[in-house]
Amino acid sequence: MKYLLDTANLEAIRFCNDIFPISGVSTNPSIVKASFAKSEKKPDFFAHMNAIRAVIGPESPFHIQVTAPDSDGMLRDADAILNRVDEQVCVKIPVTMEGLKAIRALKKQDITVTATAVYGKTQAFLALEAGADYIAPYYNRMENMGLDSDGVIAAIAQMISEYDYPTQILAASFKNAGQVERAFEAGAQCATMDPSILLAALKQPYILDAVETFQSDWKAIFGDVTAAELS
Ligand code: G3P
Repeated sequence: MKYLLDTANLEAIRFCNDIFPISGVSTNPSIVKASFAKSEKKPDFFAHMNAIRAVIGPESPFHIQVTAPDSDGMLRDADAILNRVDEQVCVKIPVTMEGLKAIRALKKQDITVTATAVYGKTQAFLALEAGADYIAPYYNRMENMGLDSDGVIAAIAQMISEYDYPTQILAASFKNAGQVERAFEAGAQCATMDPSILLAALKQPYILDAVETFQSDWKAIFGDVTAAELS
């Protein structure tokens, strides 16, 4: 079960990487746009991607999405990403007709591919057959469409198991920790989410209340000293 950060915000990545057991970062063009929303000048995309890589380290899964709509353009984007960041990047390809062509071509070159923008079983099953290393079903977006997000993830997990695909489910598109929990329970091996979801999960008042009670009970006996400060 792996937690990833779905953001290009360097400060958030640094902060969360120090606290949580994070197993990687994923980005897409909308996430890149959001992380540069306030900057005056046009960002240096590859410099920023390399800055993220420097924070998470060379071994950590780093998912970067292509931007071209056509398969040839996707292959050129993939080439640029792998050359200007590094060969370990997982190249994210939307599961469209052009995307399936690109996924199959990249897998012939043994490049790690994340099949993304998955809203249903057929997209996912085709991506499995195309050899994708990761599949990213969009949990919240499916739920918003009235689709059974848990059922889609469970079906993907079932096909992976039944046909022994070497593929991991990287569930994405979450609005709260409950959705993340259900994605894991449905069979996702990985989930990528905005840092705010993790931060909110541990800022629950009942957690903080419990800790305050522990501290006040301790102080009632030993005073305002920690265990380490006891003589
Ligand atoms: O990786 C895809 C994810 O970023 C989509 O999230 O919140 O735009 O549905 P969202």
